[in-house]
Amino acid sequence: MKLTKNLLIKEAEYFCARANSIDHPELLGINDGKTIGTYIEHEFKKHLLNKYDFKLGSSSMGVDFPDEDINTDLKVTSLNKPQNSCPFLDIRQKIYGLGYNLLLFLYEKNEKEGKCYLFFDSCTFIDADETGDYKLTSNLRKMLQNKWSKEKIVYYLEQCKLPGDKTTLNNLAEEIIENPPKQGYLTVSNAFQWRIKYTYTNKNTNLPVVDVKKEFGDFQTPLYFARQVFEYILERHVLHPDLIIEPTCGIGNFIQASHSYYPNTPVIGIDVNESYLKEVRMNLPDVMLYNVNVFDFDFNKLLSNDYDEYLLVGNPPWVTNTRLSKYDSNNIPQKENIKNLNFFDATTGSSNFDISENILLHLIKTFKNTTATFIFLCKFQIACNIFEYLIKDNIQLSEMEIIRFDSLEIFNADTSSCILFIQFNENNKLLDFCNVYNFDGSIHSRMGIVNGQFYSNLDNVVDIDGECCFEWRQGIKHDCTKIMELSCDGDKYKNKKEDVVLLEDDLLYPLLKSSDIKIPMVTSSDRRTIITQHKLKEDTSYIKEKYPSTWQYLERNEDYFLKRKSNIYHNAPKYSIFGIGEYTFKKYKVAISGFYKEGLFSLVYNEKPMMLDDTCYYLSFDNYETAYITMLVLNTWIVKSYLKSIVILDSKRPYTKKVLKRIDIKKAIKLITLNTLIETEKNLKLKKYINQEKWDNYTKLINKINTQK
Ligand SMILES: C[S@@+](CC[C@H](N)C(=O)[O-])C[C@H]1O[C@@H](n2cnc3c(N)ncnc32)[C@H](O)[C@@H]1O
Repeated sequence: MKLTKNLLIKEAEYFCARANSIDHPELLGINDGKTIGTYIEHEFKKHLLNKYDFKLGSSSMGVDFPDEDINTDLKVTSLNKPQNSCPFLDIRQKIYGLGYNLLLFLYEKNEKEGKCYLFFDSCTFIDADETGDYKLTSNLRKMLQNKWSKEKIVYYLEQCKLPGDKTTLNNLAEEIIENPPKQGYLTVSNAFQWRIKYTYTNKNTNLPVVDVKKEFGDFQTPLYFARQVFEYILERHVLHPDLIIEPTCGIGNFIQASHSYYPNTPVIGIDVNESYLKEVRMNLPDVMLYNVNVFDFDFNKLLSNDYDEYLLVGNPPWVTNTRLSKYDSNNIPQKENIKNLNFFDATTGSSNFDISENILLHLIKTFKNTTATFIFLCKFQIACNIFEYLIKDNIQLSEMEIIRFDSLEIFNADTSSCILFIQFNENNKLLDFCNVYNFDGSIHSRMGIVNGQFYSNLDNVVDIDGECCFEWRQGIKHDCTKIMELSCDGDKYKNKKEDVVLLEDDLLYPLLKSSDIKIPMVTSSDRRTIITQHKLKEDTSYIKEKYPSTWQYLERNEDYFLKRKSNIYHNAPKYSIFGIGEYTFKKYKVAISGFYKEGLFSLVYNEKPMMLDDTCYYLSFDNYETAYITMLVLNTWIVKSYLKSIVILDSKRPYTKKVLKRIDIKKAIKLITLNTLIETEKNLKLKKYINQEKWDNYTKLINKINTQK
């Protein structure tokens, strides 16, 4: 078959994902980037030559894949030690690109127990006309937007010390005006050029970045680890499966590991990627393989065959549906809404769940009435969600364990991860807790449900669980950071595209992001955000008349708004934002970042109400004293200990509205004394403010709110 550009990209994706999970003995002890790069290039070309016809480049032919319709050079570079070669031969290349496409592999090498692993962080394909210099093309494009004259452009080119006499630069400037260059993604810096380019490409959603692992959540489990997982489980549990199923089997390392323990048990492997299945077929010809989406596989057919004991094992994809929608991927289950998420969940982010969670829930629903054991690798947060789901849906099971492991070491992925072990059999019962173990078998913690509520750690529970008397809100959501968020540059504002922006002040509000609320009091910000509405669904056409500069700015950048994918923007007024209401404009807010483990509550205020972005949650107040004391209350050790027992600190966003709503301030103030508050004030390094009178007023107010409720 003839190799094409698209096939080259697909094969690169497959090659990198596969290489992530196999041993490369040839590279053991080798740290020289050039040798590793040559090895990878050689292996990739060997892989292609086995399947396709194409011309191979030589140093005299310039690029690695010189066929006219491919015209691509391959670059391999280490994530830690980027290559330092300069690809530009002349000034035109800097502006109009190299004249050939680039395929860039970015890897990291790790050695462990005498084996060598390569982790491909990404593989990026850059079209020829986007291989110009990043800064130069971006500046020239801005100049053209601002209608610079030829003379000014020539002057700029001279200032950049670009080689060429006056006539050459004159001709070039004319050409630039007539034929504006595309945005390039390489940089002039010789030292870090590939790394910097890589950063830019990742930021730019229009570039065809083939992100090896992300779309299919493709972390293939190394064989040695699949074996360790079996060892761990079988040391503690006796299993007699008469059918083994790996629902997203990839290259089949779990299948292979299971084969050592159950050589005569039939095995079924399912995966969307046919290339992986080919590989399984080569190593394990007896495995029954199905090249389908796991959601389309008819598991009920298997159940009708009356197997006595099923073993389901594997490592479902680690990717969220939101990320998938960013890739325009269709690897999203279409048929079922397992958790029955509604429109509101979609707006609050609750619907952002991992595909692996969906796959696991689908399997649980299918196998819960059989004798079945589940052994799956997943994010720790997913295992907690599954536990909650099992209990809330009254699903009976015989055993559930969570065993934590170091995914940085195994997958080079910095996510808290675990083995989820679940058994269904004749001893099924309703569970109310689950032990969490370390990979050495020692106990880590116990999670459970008390009075219908989830506790990530049942030890040291301080009981202030209930309902907060103030309403927690999530910050502003607009999905248009590039246009809506501005940074102050002297007396000017710049957007994320680095454009200087002149807007009327009225719709500009100080903005705080998670990284800004790391101290207990925040009263200023260098960022601004445009607030286009004062209440949900407000018609935004008023901006045109009242704030013409803002309207023109929004109109100029309309495309960015039109590209917003979330359903909430469909049929909403132009330039709509969410997380907006009367509460948004209150002067005092007590805010927390959803992301930071520390769980600090900050009092934020300014003459103009401070806005928070959608990574933050907050309560809002008209009155300083109430806001201040609420901040102190929330920062006491009592509230903090309670939070520690209910949040999953390892998850990406430990603090959510769901968690914060459970802090019952009325219960908390019964346990909190004035001394506790004075101590908290001291710990936060705040000036003394709280006293008996203020505390009495506060407790009276809180009790009143609750009585009125
Ligand atoms: C994390 S990898 C794990 C592969 C293998 N289970 C292992 O442990 O090495 C996830 C696998 O799921 C496959 N996959 C992703 N989405 C799928 C879907 N909807 N149906 C079937 N397989 C899928 C990918 O091709 C990939 O091989």
